[in-house]
Amino acid sequence: MRENGLAKQEILKILEKKLEKDFSYSSGSILGSMCTEPLDFGVEIYLKYISKNLGDPGLFLGTAALEEELVSEIGELFNEKNIIGTFTTGGSEANLIAMRIAKKLKPDITRPEVVVPCSAHISFDKAADLLGIKLRKAKLNDNFELDLTHFESLLNKNTCGVVGIAGTTSLGLIDPIEEIGTLVEDKDIFFHIDAAFGGFILPFLKRLNFSIPKWDFSVDAVDSITADPHKMGLGIIPSGGFFLRDPSILQKTGFEIPYLAGGNFKHFHIVGTRSGGTVIAFWAILKSLGVNGFVQIVKRCMENTEYLTAQINDMKGIKLVTNPITNVVGITTENGESICKIDEELRKRNWMLGKFEEFNLIRVVVMPHVQKSHLQNFVEDLKKILKKL
Ligand SMILES: Cc1ncc(COP(=O)(O)O)c(C=O)c1O
Repeated sequence: MRENGLAKQEILKILEKKLEKDFSYSSGSILGSMCTEPLDFGVEIYLKYISKNLGDPGLFLGTAALEEELVSEIGELFNEKNIIGTFTTGGSEANLIAMRIAKKLKPDITRPEVVVPCSAHISFDKAADLLGIKLRKAKLNDNFELDLTHFESLLNKNTCGVVGIAGTTSLGLIDPIEEIGTLVEDKDIFFHIDAAFGGFILPFLKRLNFSIPKWDFSVDAVDSITADPHKMGLGIIPSGGFFLRDPSILQKTGFEIPYLAGGNFKHFHIVGTRSGGTVIAFWAILKSLGVNGFVQIVKRCMENTEYLTAQINDMKGIKLVTNPITNVVGITTENGESICKIDEELRKRNWMLGKFEEFNLIRVVVMPHVQKSHLQNFVEDLKKILKKL
């Protein structure tokens, strides 16, 4: 560390240079991320309230009340107004909280297990590792849909939780949530939905008359949902969300913090100090966009998704993995060869997609920052690569 500080202008210049290597959303290069540029107004609000700390809610009673209001608004969007919930650092923390609750609610199970589809996000592996839970992974069938028979066969007396995904990381698909609900009905097994990606797109796709199966609290057996503002919610990075149907679970499983300046309270979090600014910003984003604002954003993402799928359908050598249900386009080779070579060539040209080697696919997430012109340039480069290979 320097003895004397530098002038602001000097620091800004150095930073500009050092961060040159970063990709930007506006360039179009970032085609494989589930994060996007937060809404401008949200950024403004975040900067204004950046020092609010929800890790000590007794000191920030207004912010804490705003969080509750926001949770209830999201509950309405997810078809159950009287939920509780909290905002997290992202989907991984929210999923970890859900897995911990599943385990805590079943203290008599000495070797707890959770059943997840094998398309589940890596955060469930992390949570299982941290919590000493055995993760049982259910197979997918040839259409990348969950094999329900296999899922059911993995349930046993040690199962404390099951997970369904509404918007998978690899393909944006929705698991059969109602059917999983029927499997666990009356079994006293905690049922968590990972809608980290889908949470802030599926309600709006429904408004646009897309055929979206039930995935939220409208399914009676669903106990909790992960849904992330920093993905399709256009919230500040990082901000995730965890939402829970039964408020009494907080009393049963929450951590009590004994020393805070604002007084004791119970919470679910892994972290202590927690951003209030991201929560206030998301409250403002929902107020500013309203349902119709989100519907317009989602409509544009889906139009761009349709453009890209039509282009891929016309190309020789590659094909769609499935017909997209959401704004995620999975691409694989026509002849079953590895997709890695194409991915490498795309990266050389600065197209940064997600690669899923276990499914032999690369995928574009057509986020709000992805413009049709970006996709047109991407398609041109992809055609050139296919010609050369
Ligand atoms: C379905 C799903 N769940 C959870 C996560 C983890 O979210 P985060 O990166 O915010 O921790 C992701 C990330 O892409 C995801 O796609």
